[in-house]
Amino acid sequence: MPPPMMIIAGPPGSGKGTLCENIQRATNVVHLSTGDLLRVEVKQATELGKKAEEFMSKGKLVPDALIIAMVLQRLKQKDIKERGVLLDGFPRTGGQAEALKKAGVKFDVMVLLEVSEKSLMERSAGRRLDPQTGTIYHLKFNPPPSDVLPRVVIRPDDQPEKQKFRIEVFNKTKAELVAAYQDILLPINADQPIQRVYEEFVRKSMAKKQSKL
Ligand code: AP5
Repeated sequence: MPPPMMIIAGPPGSGKGTLCENIQRATNVVHLSTGDLLRVEVKQATELGKKAEEFMSKGKLVPDALIIAMVLQRLKQKDIKERGVLLDGFPRTGGQAEALKKAGVKFDVMVLLEVSEKSLMERSAGRRLDPQTGTIYHLKFNPPPSDVLPRVVIRPDDQPEKQKFRIEVFNKTKAELVAAYQDILLPINADQPIQRVYEEFVRKSMAKKQSKL
């Protein structure tokens, strides 16, 4: 049976990364987050990283011309061919969805996390990242252990005005995404505790038999 190919979509702070971590604990599927890939490029100050940082620091989308080739290249690698992928944060525009289709990359399901703007603001404000392991925490909803707490960092794009702007950007392109993947769309109520979101994902994907997890 071919491996699972899943898109995990949703507004900033909706819990895409968190859901992917939970799915990964139960499966062998590869988690590919374009935000994480870009942050590595920025940290290593590569040509791409320098260009991408100009957009990321303002909460804007990195232009398709910079990101599409990088993602298509990564999707061709052996681990994803063998184990499948949770593609987190890509595609985000009609152009990106089109590029995937043109390259012949097919998906079983597009999970769409649905969360109120109030929750998105609260989640972004309390988010903390462990730079050593990449684990995502939240000061209130998923607090870091006491030995990890001193080293956690705040993402620069989690300032309230940047988060607001990122939500607006998502709302502008959401319709293009939904239209591109209408046939495999799996909406999930992500305005509930972390474990419940995961349970709803498992239940709905099993019921629809869209997931091969
Ligand atoms: P990216 O890192 O993908 O940012 P994002 O889409 O804005 O999503 P986030 O990472 O902010 O949130 P998330 O949904 O993963 O939530 P999380 O699990 O962390 O991209 C960053 C930037 O890179 C973009 O702005 C853009 O510039 C660029 N970029 C990336 N992809 C691109 C693309 N395809 N095209 C162009 N540019 C691109 O959870 C958030 C917090 O809430 C955490 O603290 C978590 O613990 C908590 N939490 C999670 N779930 C719950 C829950 N159910 N209840 C309570 N708390 C929860």
